[in-house]
Amino acid sequence: MGDRPDVLVTRPIMDGPLARLRERCDVTVHENEFGIPRDELLKVVEGRDALITMLTERVDAELLAAAGTRLRIVANHAVGFDNVVLADCNAAGVMATNTPDVLTETTADTAFALIMAAARRIGEGERFLRRREPWIWGPLMMLGQDLHHKTIGIVGFGRIGQAVARRARGFGIRVIYADAIELPLEVTAPLEAERRELTELLAEADVISIHTNLTPETRHLFGAEQFRAMKPTAVLVNTSRGPVIDEAALADALATGEIFAAGLDVFEAEPEVNDRLLELENAVVIPHLGSATVDTRNAMGHLAVDNVFAAVDGVRPPTLLNPETFSG
Ligand code: DGY
Repeated sequence: MGDRPDVLVTRPIMDGPLARLRERCDVTVHENEFGIPRDELLKVVEGRDALITMLTERVDAELLAAAGTRLRIVANHAVGFDNVVLADCNAAGVMATNTPDVLTETTADTAFALIMAAARRIGEGERFLRRREPWIWGPLMMLGQDLHHKTIGIVGFGRIGQAVARRARGFGIRVIYADAIELPLEVTAPLEAERRELTELLAEADVISIHTNLTPETRHLFGAEQFRAMKPTAVLVNTSRGPVIDEAALADALATGEIFAAGLDVFEAEPEVNDRLLELENAVVIPHLGSATVDTRNAMGHLAVDNVFAAVDGVRPPTLLNPETFSG
């Protein structure tokens, strides 16, 4: 590797981390906010030592081959890495990293904002006022669901799920969770969180917040059958990955009142949003803003840069996903 590694950043990132990267590397930033079309991406990766990628770019054998043998690291600027085919990175001997931890609390804030907005009809109320319709306070107007002293069911009880649980406890909300593993007492005891099978959680929870990774097993984890099992007063929130929910089935469940409301930060065919969801008053939809704060995007950028620097220095990157590729 030359003195100044050649790095491609596939989308503009925050100035601070970018300036740090530029101090040590020759950096090309793809400036288009809409991302790089795949055919162009395959051309511009050629000969790079490192890539900083976004969740919108698929990192697979084709892209790694197009990059060539100088490539040491793909630093994904996201905690989720379902866009990165780790087996292909391993086969190519390329390190892959993500940005965990630094966005946990911010994403949990977003989940909680969606829980509140969906349960208390905040989006609907806002749209109503903006239509300038005549109104006066009324005892039956736009009634929502209480959250305090209810039960939240957290599906996927990792870092972000636990951070949502901490917020819920502040509202006096009881916490149950479904996860492939039983979490240790040091995690569950302070939250008084109890484990349930998913089917039990669906029937018991007043609010369900999804925090699973997207894997073949979690794709469409929520569909018609799951919505039928939920309470008609239930609120469903997803800040993980869109394909965990079958959106057509969700639109049916919301339209028929099978469940009360949903809050969605992510979408099945992102950036497309199901037309029917856009028409439904009881769907709160925001454009994948989970980690979108100034501080957190700075922290994510710095962590991605730390990972690149480690790789070019021959040091183990702090958040390496595939340790088998690191030959310290
Ligand atoms: C992630 O990091 O995976 C989020 O979805 C975007 O910040």
